[in-house]
Amino acid sequence: MRHWVFGYGSLIYKVDFPYLARQPAHILGWERRFWQGSHDHRGTPEAPGRVVTLVESAGQRCDGVAYWISESVFEHLDHREKNGYQRLDTPMNLADGREVIATVYVADAANHAFLGPASLPVIASHIAGSHGPSGSNREYLLTLAESLRELGAHDQHVYDLETLLLDRC
Ligand code: SIN
Repeated sequence: MRHWVFGYGSLIYKVDFPYLARQPAHILGWERRFWQGSHDHRGTPEAPGRVVTLVESAGQRCDGVAYWISESVFEHLDHREKNGYQRLDTPMNLADGREVIATVYVADAANHAFLGPASLPVIASHIAGSHGPSGSNREYLLTLAESLRELGAHDQHVYDLETLLLDRC
């Protein structure tokens, strides 16, 4: 069996899994937010970093990348996204015009690592000070912002945080 997966965070730019096809895509009714704690990638259980999850938001659009993968790749992805994310199936619009069903990893408000909303300056300073086994939280944000620009995507939340982070230096 083969599946579409929609990546909207590190899955856009850190592609450490095999895929059969890849193209830009978007989903509707969701927004990307730096509301999820990271215990295992960009922080630690004692000092979690802040990474993105999706929150439902009527009328909003979230841009990312679609991957066409073999079922067996889920084992790797489930492990990589194990800190609070769960698989959800949702309609996805591919850049080539097709609408398909995709699996997306969402960390909802009930998961143990959820941090939830905070002001943008608080989130930016949290990101500036966090590090984990996968690298700095700063790198996660800056690489995501750069990747979204390359996709031609607009995401005010991410770009505002990028500006705040860069202004600190
Ligand atoms: C994703 O990229 O689709 C999930 C969140 C992350 O791993 O950053």
